[in-house]
This record gives sequence, C-alpha cells and structure tokens, in this order.
Amino acid sequence: MSFRLQPAPPARLNRCQLFGPGSRPAIFEKMATSAADVINLDLEDSVAPSDKDTARKNVIEAIQDINWGNKTLSVRINGLDTPYWYRDVIDLLENSGSRIDQIMVPKVGCAADIYAVDALVTAIEIAKNRKKLIDFEVIIESAAGISHVEEIAAASPRMVAMSLGAADFAASMGMQTTGIGGTQKNYYMIYEDQKHWSDPWHWAQAAIVAACRTNGVLPVDGPFGDFSDNEGFRAQSYRSATLGMVGKWAIHPKQVIIANEVFTPSNEAVVEAREILSAMEIAKENGEGATVYRGRLVDIASIKQAEVIVRQSDMIANG
Ligand code: COA
Ligand code: MG
Repeated sequence: MSFRLQPAPPARLNRCQLFGPGSRPAIFEKMATSAADVINLDLEDSVAPSDKDTARKNVIEAIQDINWGNKTLSVRINGLDTPYWYRDVIDLLENSGSRIDQIMVPKVGCAADIYAVDALVTAIEIAKNRKKLIDFEVIIESAAGISHVEEIAAASPRMVAMSLGAADFAASMGMQTTGIGGTQKNYYMIYEDQKHWSDPWHWAQAAIVAACRTNGVLPVDGPFGDFSDNEGFRAQSYRSATLGMVGKWAIHPKQVIIANEVFTPSNEAVVEAREILSAMEIAKENGEGATVYRGRLVDIASIKQAEVIVRQSDMIANG
C-alpha cells in the first residue's frame, strides 16, 4: 500500500447520465424532469455537421431557460480533432451563464488534450470573471485513450468523471463487434460442447476504474445502444457496478429507471453494510481486527467495503 491515500471522488450522485442531441430541443424539458442524476446535452456525434451551430445555440438557451433542478448539468463538446470544439467552449462559457457544471471532452487520447481544453477554459473564466469553475468529464473511446488512461485521469484538478465509450472504442481497437456495448455473439469459449460468453469490455472497464480510483475521479459506463433490450442493459449495468463503476449512460428514458435501480444499493445491502460496521465497532472495542458476521470473516477491509455502500445510500437519502 502506498503511503499516499486514495483521494475521495466528488461526493455527488452519478447513477445515470441521460443524453440528448443538442439539435432536438423538444426533449430538453423531458430530460430535466427525468430521474437522471446527470444531464448531458450533446454537441458531438448525435448532431449532424450541418446542425452544429444551431445545436450550440439551442444548448446555450436551454442551459439558462430550463429548470434543471439539482441535476449535474454537462455539455458534450466536439472532439479536439474537429473544427468545432473551440467555438463550443468559448460560446458556452461566454454566453450560457453559471448553471452549467461541467464539460464532457470526447475521444481524449492523452493528458495534453485535457491541458489544451483546460488552458482555454481557464483563460475564459479569468477574462469573464466566472466564479464557479467548470469541471471536466472525459470519454475513453480510443486505443490511445486506454493506453494513456492513467495520465488522463490525473491531467487536471478539474477532472471529475471518466466514461467508457464502447462503440468508438471498439472501432478504434479494430474489434470485430457490432452494436454499442453489451454481450458480443462471437466472444465465447467452449466447455463440454457448450458456449460460454465472456465480457470483452471487462479489461477496459477495470483499467478505467483503477485510473479513476487512483485520482479521485468517478468511473462511469457509457452507452448501451439497443434501448429495446432492457435485460441486456441491466446485465451490462450490473457488471459495471460489480467492477466499481458508479453509473451508466442512458440514451433513452427507459434506461434511466434501470440504471437508477442497479446503481442504488438495495435495502438489504445497506442493512448488511450497517450491521458489518456495528460488528466491527464491537470487535474494535474488544481489541480485535476481525470478527465473524453471519458465519463469515469480516475485517478492516470489510469496513471500507461497507462504507462505500453506506456513503452511497446516505447521498441518495440526502438527494
Ligand atoms: N431524453 C428525454 N426524453 C427522450 C429521449 C431522451 N434522450 N429520447 C426520447 N425521449 C422521449 C420522446 O420524446 C418520447 O416522448 P413522448 O412520449 O412525450 O412523445 C418518449 O421519450 C419515447 O421516445 P421514443 O419514441 O421511444 O424514441 P424516439 O424515437 O423519440 O428517440 C432516440 C429515440 C434514440 C433517437 C432518442 O432517444 C435519442 O436521441 N437519444 C439520445 C441520443 C444521444 O444523445 N446520443 C449521444 C450519446 S451516445
Ligand atoms: Mg463516441
């Protein structure tokens, strides 16, 4: 164990991030009244090149005009490989007021990408005397992004969250997959003549979780394209939660409900976590570092696991 303590991630809910194209203002109100913790207004790949300017204007207006309640409000800007991104940042920060919380930078490939956006954002904040500093979230969705995931997570104190973007990631890696996220038909092993499906996203997710946890950043699972497949979405969400991710994107309102269910600890889990903490409290009073809870060993590491669940449950209770 390093002597450096693992920094805590931002203490806010991030169970579901609901996306909507900036070129479709008719759904903005519906996004605002949804149960998602984070709203992502998109200027990037769900907006056609011919609609980029209109989408930017729509988003700037909506940030100010719509009541976003206590949601985290994020705008996905265009990638640094496009001619749009600098205008996205400048117009958003000069013209949309103070309600915007964060900018999502897609297709990040190295820490210098974050440095470039940080320099621009910092200059605008100073020039315009913006009091509330903008946070960053990024998408890891390329071979370069996953190769440099640790330096990206550490690239700026503005970094709050990092998502895996499965479709662009698969394309960049040359993976023979179809669809956005989830089970892949051809990723199986044979045991006793039976197919057993494995999870091709596992290592990339685990790499993101490790980079995020090292740097106090929230790890998030990205989109699941087939919004008619509720059980596929639920299974993908459970796998992400098991690996340490705190939430998942929704590209359709249906998915918000499922993501909130999966990333909200169940009552039983919270009761058990509190009981483990009480059992360990008693053990501590007796000068013991380990004890038995419901027939199994719990020790000092169990306290930390239980605290993750209790902290999440307290945040949800406090809205
Ligand atoms: N946020 C809020 N409300 C949404 C929504 C969203 N992302 N997507 C759809 N809705 C609303 C619709 O307006 C409709 O509302 P109504 O019942 O009041 O008419 C209802 O949910 C059902 O929508 P449905 O007809 O099933 O879907 P659609 O054909 O209107 O839209 C998509 C389907 C996929 C095009 C749309 O959901 C979408 O654009 N999603 C986001 C895509 C995106 O942002 N991608 C970038 C990140 S990967
Ligand atoms: Mg993408």
